[in-house]
Amino acid sequence: MSLPQTSLLRASQKAMRTMADRNTPFINDEWYVVAFAGELGPALLKRTALGIRLVMFRTQDGSPIAMEDRCAHRSYPLSAGTLDGDTLVCGYHGLRYDRAGNCIEVPSQQTCPKGIGVRTFPLIESGPFVWGWFGDPSKADPAQVPATPWLENGEWVSSQDYFDLRGNYVSLHENLLDLTHLSFVHARSFGTPDYSRAPYDVESKDGCFRITRSVVPTRLPPVWAQPTGLHHDHAARITTSEFRAPGLHVVSARFYDADVPVNNQPVFEIKTCHVPTPQTQGSTHYFIVHSRNFALQDAGVTVFMREQLMTAFREDVDVLTRLEDVLAQPDPERYDISIASDGPAVAMRRYLFARASPNNVSRAEGAITRQ
Ligand code: FES
Ligand SMILES: [Fe+2]
Repeated sequence: MSLPQTSLLRASQKAMRTMADRNTPFINDEWYVVAFAGELGPALLKRTALGIRLVMFRTQDGSPIAMEDRCAHRSYPLSAGTLDGDTLVCGYHGLRYDRAGNCIEVPSQQTCPKGIGVRTFPLIESGPFVWGWFGDPSKADPAQVPATPWLENGEWVSSQDYFDLRGNYVSLHENLLDLTHLSFVHARSFGTPDYSRAPYDVESKDGCFRITRSVVPTRLPPVWAQPTGLHHDHAARITTSEFRAPGLHVVSARFYDADVPVNNQPVFEIKTCHVPTPQTQGSTHYFIVHSRNFALQDAGVTVFMREQLMTAFREDVDVLTRLEDVLAQPDPERYDISIASDGPAVAMRRYLFARASPNNVSRAEGAITRQ
C-alpha cells in the first residue's frame, strides 16, 4: 500500500482548500428549518441551530417565536423558565420578556430599565416546516424560503421523520448528491447492484446542483416494488438528487414499466425533502419529509414505505457518524482524492465555501456564485 503520487496528493489538498467541510463557517444569510410545525406549541422547546442556543414556542395567536436561550441578566437558559401567556419568565430571578424579546419586568425593582432584551429571530411557517433566519435581519426575505409546494398539495401524501445526526451538514449534502453509494451502503435496503454504474446527467446553476441517474431496465427493491406492483426486472427507476439551498435537498424518483410507452401507464413518483440544519460544526438536525403521489389513501403503504426508508436513511446516518469521527480529528496531512462521480458534490462544496467565506471568493477556484 502506498500514498498517492506526491503531485496527486498536493493537488487534492489544494482542491480541498476551496471546498467547504466541517470546519467551514456556517452560512448565516439563509433560511434553515428549525422545527416541524407540529413541534411548536405553548411549551418551551430548546434547540441549537447554527451554533445558537434557541428557545421556541407559540404565542396564544399561534405565531411561532424563536429567542436566544440566554437571559440578559446572568445568562440562565430561558428554556428553563416558564411561559406566562405570551411572555417568557426567566427561572432564575424572574425577568420577564415579551414576544419581541424585550425585558418588560424586573421583579426585584419598581421599574424595568429600558433597552434590555434578548435576540429574537425571524421565522416563517411553510407546510410542515418552520424556517428560521440567523443572519442579518434586514436580509431576511420570506420570498427566499425554499419552495416545497407539493407539501401543501392534496395530490401528495407525506410522512415525516428526524435524526439528531452526529455528523456535519456538508457531508450530509455530499452524501445526498452522490448516488454511487447506493449499491454499497444500501445494498440491503434500496440499493441495487446496477445502480452505481448507471448513466447520469449533471446540472449546476445559480446555487442549485442536480444529478439525475437513470436505471433502466432494473428490478426495483421491495420499498418501491411492493407499493407500485412493479415486481419484474424491466422497471424504470429515474432518480434526481438536487441541492436547492444550504438548508434543503430534494430527492425525486419516478418508476414505471420500461416495456410500455410512458404515456400509456401510471408513473409512480416520490419526493423526499432532506433538510439539514447545522447544529454545531459536528452535528446536524436532519429533518425528513417523504411524499408520494400514489396510493394516497392507503395508510398501510405509508407505514411500509416509512419503515423501509428509515432503515435506509439510518444507513446513511451511520456512515456519516463514522465519517465524522475521522473528520473531527485534526490532520494537517489529510487528503481526499475526488473521482469522476464527485463532480456535482465538489461544485456544491465550492459553492458553500464561497458563500461562507466571501472574502475568499477570489481564491476559490471554480467557485460558483449565486445570483
Ligand atoms: S439570570 Fe435570568 S433573571 Fe437572572
Ligand atoms: Fe444514502
